[in-house]
Amino acid sequence: MEKSYSIRTRFNLVLLLVYLASLLITLSIVYVYTKQEMYAQANQKLTLMVDMVSSMRKYITEDVRPALLEQKVMHAPAISSTVATSHVAGHFKKLQPDYYIKTASDNPLNKANLPEPVEQTFLDDFRLDREKKLIIREGSLHGQDYLLSSHPTVSKADCMICHSTPDAAPEAIRSKYTSGGFGYKLDEVVGVSVVGVPLENIKAAVLTRSLAIAAILTAIFTIMMVLVNMTVRKQILQPLDDITAAAQAISKGNLDTPLTVIRNDEIGKLTHAIELMRRSFVKVLERMNRK
Ligand code: HEC
Repeated sequence: MEKSYSIRTRFNLVLLLVYLASLLITLSIVYVYTKQEMYAQANQKLTLMVDMVSSMRKYITEDVRPALLEQKVMHAPAISSTVATSHVAGHFKKLQPDYYIKTASDNPLNKANLPEPVEQTFLDDFRLDREKKLIIREGSLHGQDYLLSSHPTVSKADCMICHSTPDAAPEAIRSKYTSGGFGYKLDEVVGVSVVGVPLENIKAAVLTRSLAIAAILTAIFTIMMVLVNMTVRKQILQPLDDITAAAQAISKGNLDTPLTVIRNDEIGKLTHAIELMRRSFVKVLERMNRK
């Protein structure tokens, strides 16, 4: 025989399954959608930042540097776009601490510009494939997740003013930087310009949204469970109990109480059928008594 669950248990099991399935489906959709949305946002911000940094670099190399070199002014932040970037990054960090701007090199003048592991992978990749001009990659820096954009920094003739040998470099550079950053050769990837926007709020956003949606779904399904249970009890279980009691009474020979059909549905039809059966019994009994 089939396992016997009560009607109410079956209804509740189905509802529970639907609840779990909708929770699973909705949460996966929320996860995918939120992640996509956050990435699109991060990408947009990243493009803005990268364009801003490159405009600032162009401002130095095209608008400021030529005039200063003509006058033999060797003020690094006004001549080198990399130095300017690192200065701007310093100011920017105070206003927007979540964002990341850096020019990293494994042979740096300034040790603070040594590459983090993910920046070293950018350097390696740009050196392996000199055609590559842009890498966008997720990466962790100082324990924070970023969406990172990176361009190769390539040495040109201009750079040699400061980066060839300490002796050839301007006094200000020679005296300040002693540990590295010299020995550049022409047309080599000497560093990477990295810009990063934070990604860590993705997990938080997914969690908050998932919790809110789980709460709403749970509330809806709780109300549905209560309503369905009330309806099943009132519309199906109680009438069935009444009909069962009536049928039992008939089987015990109590044929005097007629069943009243007050509904025009399946339960009504069943009541009517049993009432017809009762009347037939009554007639059969009357006929037998007459004989
Ligand atoms: C006027 C001098 C000067 C010129 C010209 C110059 N740089 Fe630099 N560069 C510096 C200084 C100073 C720093 C260190 C900035 C700091 O303290 O963060 C630096 C830093 C860098 C860094 C970051 C790593 C490091 O060394 O600290 C890279 C990469 C770099 N320069 C590449 C270049 C390239 C490529 C060019 C030519 C397109 C160039 N530089 C031209 C002075 C110069």
